Amino acid sequence: MNGNFIYHNPTKLYFGEDSLNYLADELKNYGPVVMLSYGGGSIKRNGIYDAVVSILKAAGKTIVEDAGVMPNPTVEKLYEGARLVRENNVDLILAVGGGSTIDYAKGVSASAWCEEDPWEKYYKNGGNPTCRIVPVGSVLTMVGTGSEMNGGSVISNHKEGLKIGKVFGPAVFPKFTILNPKYTFTVPQYQMVAGIFDIMSHLFEQYFSDFDDNTTDYIAEGLMRSLIHSSRIAAKNPQDYEARSNIMWTATWALNTLLKCGKSTDWEVHMIGHAIGVYTDATHGMTLAAVTLPYFRHILDAGLPKFVRLARNVMDVCGKDKSDRAIAEEGLKALEAWMREIGLVMNITELGATEAMLPQIADSTFLLTGGYKTLTREEVIEILKESL
Ligand code: NZQ
Ligand code: ZN
Repeated sequence: MNGNFIYHNPTKLYFGEDSLNYLADELKNYGPVVMLSYGGGSIKRNGIYDAVVSILKAAGKTIVEDAGVMPNPTVEKLYEGARLVRENNVDLILAVGGGSTIDYAKGVSASAWCEEDPWEKYYKNGGNPTCRIVPVGSVLTMVGTGSEMNGGSVISNHKEGLKIGKVFGPAVFPKFTILNPKYTFTVPQYQMVAGIFDIMSHLFEQYFSDFDDNTTDYIAEGLMRSLIHSSRIAAKNPQDYEARSNIMWTATWALNTLLKCGKSTDWEVHMIGHAIGVYTDATHGMTLAAVTLPYFRHILDAGLPKFVRLARNVMDVCGKDKSDRAIAEEGLKALEAWMREIGLVMNITELGATEAMLPQIADSTFLLTGGYKTLTREEVIEILKESL
């Protein structure tokens, strides 16, 4: 195993049907003013809002309401949240929702007391906070991003045509996260399968880099196998607790910094997906599903031994008397069959992208160097064309 790394994840997790019971204990660690950040209203319809508010009230907290965090949160909403925190001198931001709400809360946490423009400082220039950081806690309601146990915060700036993920350090990670698989039962099927593919893509982005023998890759393969197994069950019966709880746990491990240990990591599919997202506002996981196979076919030769390994160890391709390339291609066919089986969107046209948009999308795509092949802008356009 090559490379040097530090592993440090400070987020405390509470998992299971009873996990919200621990919120009251956590609240004792923070001052009296809690900003309750949430999305477009799903938590009001499914009862999670009432459950959380009654715990906050019983703990004697002053609640600052912060509703309307949109999927793919915008820079305008980030500024608004930062202002709310300052004006109310908030002690804890409690994010109740999916990746968008938690990403946004982390962004606000580092922006509220930042004297510079946070969009420029953190997202565009990759700087780190030097100001006071407001602690974040989270109650996860939609599974996929891993935001509940990482420093990621993805913000969209439509005026600039950029969707950028800043990865903050451990000081900005949620201090605690409550994971109740039952809270995900009301997530629409489209969002559920998009989240499942987001998890798979996180596993791929870290797996498809380097060729050294690394324990991390064996862990990733185990998570992929578990995800494929549980997703097949959940796609047929979204109310299957066993499947949904395993998917939730897999999502957290897929992107909580463990799987990047000793890896250069790729992330090019996410770069293309984010660029599609900023022009279409499409659901994150679907943007990844639509470009993954064309991207993989494009880098197949450069990463061949790893694609063979995926085919054998994850997709159960039996490799007797076949060339490496044939095994790898069979693995991708099996991947495609699984993607279709669970109901993913397999092209960007369905997500609202048109051929005329492709040059702009390519211009907004960051080109990274950690994977098996560093793309050129022209190659991004080719992959996008194959994804139409
Ligand atoms: O806004 P509400 O009304 O809550 O509805 C949401 C939203 O419409 C709904 N939803 C969530 N929980 C629900 C529910 N509906 C019914 N019942 C529930 N229990 O689901 C919709 C999608 O929610 P969202 O939070 O946008 O989804 P997701 O968790 O996929 O987050 C996507 C965002 O995370 C970023 C993406 O780019 C995107 O902006 N990412 C964050 C990452 C990270 N922090 O590390 C990494 C990822 O690769 C990703 O880029
Ligand atoms: Zn993702």
